Amino acid sequence: MAHIIDGKAISLQIKDELKEKAERLRQEGREITLAVIQVGNDPASCVYVRNKKRGCEYIGIRSLSYELPEETTQQELLDLVGQLNQKKDVNGILVQLPLPDHIDEDTVIRAIAPEKDVDGFHPQSVGALSIGQPGFVSCTPAGVIQLLKRSGIEIAGKECVVLGRSNIVGKPMALLLLRENATVTIAHSKTRNLKEVTGRADILITAIGRPKMITREYVKEGAVVIDVGINRDQNGKLCGDVDFQDVEPVCSAITPVPGGVGPMTIAMLLGNCLESVHLQPM
Ligand code: GUN
Repeated sequence: MAHIIDGKAISLQIKDELKEKAERLRQEGREITLAVIQVGNDPASCVYVRNKKRGCEYIGIRSLSYELPEETTQQELLDLVGQLNQKKDVNGILVQLPLPDHIDEDTVIRAIAPEKDVDGFHPQSVGALSIGQPGFVSCTPAGVIQLLKRSGIEIAGKECVVLGRSNIVGKPMALLLLRENATVTIAHSKTRNLKEVTGRADILITAIGRPKMITREYVKEGAVVIDVGINRDQNGKLCGDVDFQDVEPVCSAITPVPGGVGPMTIAMLLGNCLESVHLQPM
């Protein structure tokens, strides 16, 4: 029987630690504020944004909400980001993705001041991560590292295979595992002999957005399997990239969907908001 990694419990533990840290900062006169911008009404984004704001409330940081209509122009959004960059009492700026098609996401991400980029998406943040310098780290991959560490799973020296090469998850995930001294492979849709590659993994991390694609043929006996996917199956039920029922009996530890990686993303975002004090002068 595999150990089921409980992301909800671990994220709560982290949020409680952050709550204490936020309280200490407040006592030092530092109130932390996160500005959350959403353009349009994408239903998934509405849920994520609501949960982020609730997370802020839970640990005691202020959230400012900017809910802009779908028709907002790119320039209007850039102007708002520019104003928030200038505001001394705003520590973090988060623009919820995806943005409507008429707005270029890269341009908007680049417009966020790197010292307020709590999502860790700005090229400067990504560059800093790749050369081991201080900066914000993308929340989902940072959450995976915490899940592993807090579950007592050693990373150093392990064969880690990251399935997926997105800028938000796959690439930063590989860099973080490398920072933890793992041997890292990034596999993707063009990888040949995929089962052979994933089958080498001591730790397999899937972020491909394909419902239940990863069955036990892809997994080495005793491996740790971390499922970053959030998909819907044929019945509209939430599921991961991993076929949990099939894989769970052959691995040593596995994250469920929901209740695995998902709750960690917000905990890491809140952590980044508090970290911002180290990148911003009083
Ligand atoms: N959309 C889906 N995940 C994320 C995230 O982590 N940050 C932002 N800004 N948008 C998202």
